[in-house]
Amino acid sequence: MKRRILVVILLAAYQTSTFSQTKQPIYKDKNAPVEARIDNLLSLMTLDEKIKQMNQWTYGKNANPNNIGDQMRAVSPLIGSLLYRSTNPEYRNQIQKKAMTESRLGIPIIFGFDAIHGYRTVFPIPLAQSCSWNTDLVKESCEISAKESWLSGLDWTFSPMLDVARDARWGRVAEGYGEDSYATSQYAIAAIEGYQGTNLANKYTIAACLKHYIGYSLSEGGRDYHYSDVSMQTLWETFMPPFEAGIKAGAATVMSGFNDITGVPASANHYTLTEVLKNKWGHDGFVISDWGSVRNLVEQGVAKDKKEAGMKSFLAGVEMDMVDNVYVDYLPELVAEGKVPMTAIDEAVRRILRVKMKLGLFENPYVDVVPEEKRYLLPEYLKAAEELASESMVLLKNEKETLPITSKYKSLAIIGPMVKDSINIMGSWEGKGQPKNVETIYEGLEKEFKDKATLNYALGCDFDGEDRNGFKDALEAARKSDAVIIFLGEKKHWSGENGSRSTIALPKIQEDLVVELLKAKKPIILMLSSGRPLELIRLNKIADAIVEIWQPGTMAGSAVAGILSGRHNPSGKLSITFPQTTGQIPIYYNMRQSARPKLGHYQDIPRDPLYWFGDGLSYTTYDYSDIKLSATQIKKNEHLIAEVDVTNSGNRDGKETVLWFINDPVANISRPMKELQFFEKKLIKSGEKVAYRFEIDPMRDLSYVDSFGNNHLETGDYFVIVNDQKVKFEIVD
Ligand code: BGC
Repeated sequence: MKRRILVVILLAAYQTSTFSQTKQPIYKDKNAPVEARIDNLLSLMTLDEKIKQMNQWTYGKNANPNNIGDQMRAVSPLIGSLLYRSTNPEYRNQIQKKAMTESRLGIPIIFGFDAIHGYRTVFPIPLAQSCSWNTDLVKESCEISAKESWLSGLDWTFSPMLDVARDARWGRVAEGYGEDSYATSQYAIAAIEGYQGTNLANKYTIAACLKHYIGYSLSEGGRDYHYSDVSMQTLWETFMPPFEAGIKAGAATVMSGFNDITGVPASANHYTLTEVLKNKWGHDGFVISDWGSVRNLVEQGVAKDKKEAGMKSFLAGVEMDMVDNVYVDYLPELVAEGKVPMTAIDEAVRRILRVKMKLGLFENPYVDVVPEEKRYLLPEYLKAAEELASESMVLLKNEKETLPITSKYKSLAIIGPMVKDSINIMGSWEGKGQPKNVETIYEGLEKEFKDKATLNYALGCDFDGEDRNGFKDALEAARKSDAVIIFLGEKKHWSGENGSRSTIALPKIQEDLVVELLKAKKPIILMLSSGRPLELIRLNKIADAIVEIWQPGTMAGSAVAGILSGRHNPSGKLSITFPQTTGQIPIYYNMRQSARPKLGHYQDIPRDPLYWFGDGLSYTTYDYSDIKLSATQIKKNEHLIAEVDVTNSGNRDGKETVLWFINDPVANISRPMKELQFFEKKLIKSGEKVAYRFEIDPMRDLSYVDSFGNNHLETGDYFVIVNDQKVKFEIVD
């Protein structure tokens, strides 16, 4: 009500001041207040025009320009949005021109696409990015992705994915930022700032879309699209925080998930979509369904047909229907029958128009057309891609300083299916990345070790299958080399959407290859490229060094070669735990304490996972001082400073991330054994000491949320934890 009154006053003021010049409708006037422009436009739109705003179309997979031409002619000038698969900005501009000039009101289309970890310059997959702990670099990668996307005709990306994931059988772990809510929240903010910049109306910025709202990563057994049983406590504690952080950071849009959340599917969930997202958090943009998730309500057993599915989704709070046409087909009848009120239609369209206005599309509906060489893969983009890829890689094991490759190795066996690969190394959702632009690992190594070491390459085996014919050449290469570097991993479709696997071990043929190469009795260095944590229980025992390189993208070659040579000192730390075996899932660092902590573990494997969240080595060594606290007792409204000095005691410069955890040992709702509350990555030169500081704000960092979304801060003891140090302090009234 208050907002309405304000709009009326603003409008009256505006009309008086511009009385003499108001020939054009208000909605076309960029100087008029946004809500007044929308009011005006809504008052002019027919129901059909409104409903068409609420649908996203696509024109198929074929990016052949001739087909696009035909398809483009078929596109109605009234459509709200297009999932735009072409890279051609001119086609976009032509389609947009139709909307601007051939439709009655000239409402611009919003063009969306999945630029998930880059557009043409492909950055490492998000899971890898989160192991960098470098939010500045993540932000920069999103800025670059936004520029390349915008110059290709896009206004909107379906990114970032904020599904906190703890089951690596689920292929979509690749697309998120790991197992921790706080880390995911920080990366969410970085990504939104990168995509959206400071003003969405500026050139080169695109709208972000937080997905998949919500609880999707709990799909049972890691089987994609399946039911997820999410308790309200877990919903609030684990899944909501990154979305809330994203909304606070100004994300323009949200995507509702495919999953059924404990009986009420995410795309028909009034509680999550309206009560929380809109009413509690105040999101003023719009929600788009996931591809077909409106019609999926029929399969999920909550709607008898598409019409009912459309009604349920719409009334729950999904404003745009992704490529389904359910809204277009059924909302007119639903309105006529009085099942969907006009006020709700207006509110939904208002939200969509608001995002379009914020993007400045009414004033600047077209994107700049520049030649491809000015659009893509600019030198600074490639530099950022290499930096992020190298900072994402995690050195898991390094016995007897096997790495880096120094002059002690004159010849290197380079073996495995990933060495010359230029497709799988980009990972899933590679945007518009092209294999021809990928620097393969082999190319990177040739450049890095030219004049320094002989490279003896052999394929060894394929990613899967049973063909062991390549083993012989591989063993020969290993025998004549001083060290054996084996590049194993996953094909890109083994992770990502619909990329569920019942085991997270590598196929047997790949493990067998490593066993075969042991015969050469040379140091074994494993370089693993995957979209998920892997089961390494067997390989870990026989490898001298292991680096998880993830799916590094366009600059794979230089990044990997730099890590191997020591040009890049590894600084990645795991953002997701590597279990001993697949059967140990779920296992994550912030579990709650068991009733009998020493008992109840699997009898056939060690109690702990193979690698914990936060693990990751460097070629240098860091010594941590004792944690210093500014006080041991504070009131709820006071702040506490925790500090630790880190000395680089090795002989290489390095970047070290300090992960600050909190533990609340006794609370009315039990707390995890530790929870990440802050992290910071800094460069520390060899021999230097650097201070790290965490200012604890009790309400922000020590409170917990209950199953209704209310925060509680209790008095009593708390611990701040860094590495193995645990220091107590107290909160008093
Ligand atoms: C995926 C989304 C994606 C959409 C559009 C769906 O299948 O689940 O993550 O944004 O397709 O491509």
